[in-house]
Amino acid sequence: MKVQVCIIGGGPSGLLLSQLLHLKGIDTVVLEKYSRDHVLARIRAGVLEHGFAELMREAQCGGRMDREGEIHTGFEIAHDGVLSKIDLHKHSGGSSVLVYGQTELTRDLYEARDRLGGKVVHDAQDVTPHDLTSDRPYVTYRSNGEIVRVDCDYIVGADGFHGVSRKSIPKDVLREYEKVYPFGWLGVLSRTKPVSPELIYVKHERGFALCSLRSQVLSRYYVQVPLTDKVEDWSDDAFWAELKRRLPDEVAGRLITGPSIEKSIAPLRSFVAEPMSYGRLFLAGDAAHIVPPTGARGLNSAASDIYYLYHAMLAHYQRGDDSGLAGYSAKALARIWKAQRFSWWMTMLLHRFPDRLDYEDRLQQTELDYLLSSETAQRLLAENYVGLPF
Ligand code: FAD
Ligand code: DHB
Repeated sequence: MKVQVCIIGGGPSGLLLSQLLHLKGIDTVVLEKYSRDHVLARIRAGVLEHGFAELMREAQCGGRMDREGEIHTGFEIAHDGVLSKIDLHKHSGGSSVLVYGQTELTRDLYEARDRLGGKVVHDAQDVTPHDLTSDRPYVTYRSNGEIVRVDCDYIVGADGFHGVSRKSIPKDVLREYEKVYPFGWLGVLSRTKPVSPELIYVKHERGFALCSLRSQVLSRYYVQVPLTDKVEDWSDDAFWAELKRRLPDEVAGRLITGPSIEKSIAPLRSFVAEPMSYGRLFLAGDAAHIVPPTGARGLNSAASDIYYLYHAMLAHYQRGDDSGLAGYSAKALARIWKAQRFSWWMTMLLHRFPDRLDYEDRLQQTELDYLLSSETAQRLLAENYVGLPF
């Protein structure tokens, strides 16, 4: 097979880039390790920046998102038994975020790829990039026992944190920065009315919690748990009881519980790999960087990579201008590090840290007091939460 751009990974990053390039007449293939059902069974992000939504519209995939997504102009922080409102709209100069699930967005992207006859290969085994520093790179994979070779101009590694792309950059070229947090998020999806129309981020002495949603009939809740906990340790009843303990009484009293339709634990990690390109390979999304989910930056950071890479590839194919591709890594990383800073800050603000000095707990409390008493601090929060410009 021969294409212009071979994209490894059929998550939101890979599919979105493939769709955008296809609309401009640039030929791509997406190689995905798993089946479509498997990819669509993952429950992940729920909060999108407008920049991301705009890119979905440009990719002609925004119809359902605009009909079914909810615009949120603020959220609440629960602390000390009370709720404090963060008004994103007021403090960001009129902006907001869109609540629309990653699962639905990925489904929309797959449907759009099918509609245009885009090439998406599922169950691609042993995907391996080759000859990255030559001007004729290629990728091989195994399908039904046969080795298939894809010749291309460029390879995009959009295969998530555990993918093969980042690992194919030599160790003496790649620098990795990492912080692993000593806890995870236990998440439950339930077909129940959300406890609040807006998200509630909860700081509590028993640990962080989050009340989120996918729609007015689908709720997503999280509680901070030790890394040693297993999903099997948590019955639905135990989950709801723990969530209620962390909510202000007034909120706990109106929480509607029900059977979980998905339950999983996500470890929290901050990670950046530099550079994000090597020869003819370009990394995008979780393949190059991970944030703890607290500030809802992960998928949104992937979107800015795709935006820069899409425009760099257009410049190459339409005008023969390679400066965007040459500058991609530096440009993407400048925004990525700001998302890293914000996610780290919000994680440190709201979680309970085992084995921490009392002094540090007091500083954390002071940070929250300051945030809630200062319009300037709320403006900083809002500017970052709605998304910095691309
Ligand atoms: P992925 O979604 O990981 O996709 C990579 C794809 O590559 C996968 O389909 C995988 O199967 C495939 N793949 C892997 N290895 C190979 C291989 N060797 N060969 C071929 N294919 C391969 N972000 C937000 O912005 N807002 C939020 O509200 C938010 N909430 C979150 C909540 C949780 C609990 C979690 C865990 C994450 C959250 N995120 C959030 C982060 C967001 O989900 C990720 O940043 C996003 O999935 C990244 O997309 P991606 O396409 O880069 O990577
Ligand atoms: C989700 C929402 C968030 O605001 C966040 O920070 C992390 C996750 C969610 O709904 O999954």
